[in-house]
Amino acid sequence: MTAILVLHGPNLNLLGKREPEIYGHQTLEEINEQLVKLGQELHIEVRCMQSNHEGGLIDALQDGRTWAQGVILNAGGFTHTSVAIRDAISAIVIPVVEVHLSNVDAREEFRQVSLISAVCKGKVTGFGWRSYSLALRGLAEMLVEKSS
Ligand code: DQA
Repeated sequence: MTAILVLHGPNLNLLGKREPEIYGHQTLEEINEQLVKLGQELHIEVRCMQSNHEGGLIDALQDGRTWAQGVILNAGGFTHTSVAIRDAISAIVIPVVEVHLSNVDAREEFRQVSLISAVCKGKVTGFGWRSYSLALRGLAEMLVEKSS
């Protein structure tokens, strides 16, 4: 069975409480439940993880390479700063889709810079929690096409 890792970065554990006017009212748990449910409809195993630590995200990416066929990654603030996460994405070879709840290109200048976009397969940004479900549908279709 195809498996996808959904990886959430720093401060995303506070979703629902954290600046809801920007990031929405849904909690991380609710988003994860929706993604697991969508995965079942698409016949894909979805495993969700969150870390507030750069190293934790890198460990999860490296581990994902042993069991997942693709990754959906919201690296949060590390998107704009982390060469190490970019290197991990390049290293693991499986496709990684960059996701953001908010439209980062319409926000502060520092959020308009992503160190990871260039090594990701694609990017979904600005659709709130739906950014994740759109990314999951897109990645799932790509993986099915690849395997057929
Ligand atoms: C975010 C955007 C980032 O700039 C920010 O640091 C986050 C969340 C988003 O999902 O919109 O933590 O990745």
